[in-house]
Amino acid sequence: MRVLATRRCPGAAFDELDDVEVLPLAELREPRPDVEGLVVANEPVPLRLLPNLRVVANYGVGYDRVGLEACLARGIVVTNTPGVLDAATADLAFALLLATRRQVVEGDRFVRSGGWRGSWADSRVAEDVTGSTLGIVGLGRIGSAVARRARGFDLRVLYTRRSRVDTDLGEFRDLDALLAEADLVTLHVPLTPETRGLLDARRLSLLRDGACLVNTARGEIVDQEALVGELVSGRIRAGLDVFVGEPDVPQELLGLENVVLTPHLGSATRQAREAMTRLVVDNLLAVERGEPPLTPVSAG
Ligand code: 8YV
Repeated sequence: MRVLATRRCPGAAFDELDDVEVLPLAELREPRPDVEGLVVANEPVPLRLLPNLRVVANYGVGYDRVGLEACLARGIVVTNTPGVLDAATADLAFALLLATRRQVVEGDRFVRSGGWRGSWADSRVAEDVTGSTLGIVGLGRIGSAVARRARGFDLRVLYTRRSRVDTDLGEFRDLDALLAEADLVTLHVPLTPETRGLLDARRLSLLRDGACLVNTARGEIVDQEALVGELVSGRIRAGLDVFVGEPDVPQELLGLENVVLTPHLGSATRQAREAMTRLVVDNLLAVERGEPPLTPVSAG
């Protein structure tokens, strides 16, 4: 089976594909009837140019840009990489929570700029992480991994979820109540029509003064303009790994001390990325053999 991949995925597993061509999407301009498998990283599948496509293996858990419905309507199998990046993403969410709350990057800039002459001013000290209240929006695989990490910090955990579950990971709240009660809020829902703009201006205004918002999910889950407004006013803090229209980042954020910015690093560890590649390849090989894929994505 001829596979087109929009990037070379890291790790030895990629070499198990015996007929693979690496071609960025922007360079795919002519119809390619020879291609039966496609590897994308949450990019739109150019169905028109790939008339004989059988399988799309998404290198990532989130597939909001792939065009799932159109693929499924044409009988194309779509797969993603759930599970293998939970730990890496939960670790980064925690890193951003800690960095944002405890002024790690602000402190780093202070030292590098030569500003460290005496001690950090008492007027500038942070609020505790330990013992504070963490609100997890979306208690799925990644959200649950964050909740488990929260135990070590004696955090009180609140969570929202489409349906309430019987869990000892935290206490259920509806979203408005969670936003109003938590000191730290972290987002772990997929981007869907229901979650687009979930944290709109009204909901952002519910956040407590000084609250820290962390987003390692998708920029579009938050009204970015409203978020920028809240951050420019200095009312809240944020650790942001994802943005609307990334890699562009709103200019207004670049000079702010109350924001930590990272370039979509959620799954960016060697272990997570190699495991993602393994799953991408195993899904492709399963379809090639006529077997069910390991991690198919279904409609809805
Ligand atoms: C990216 C991600 O896919 O899994 C996801 O949903 O957003 C990331 O893992 C990865 O950075 C490759 O682009």
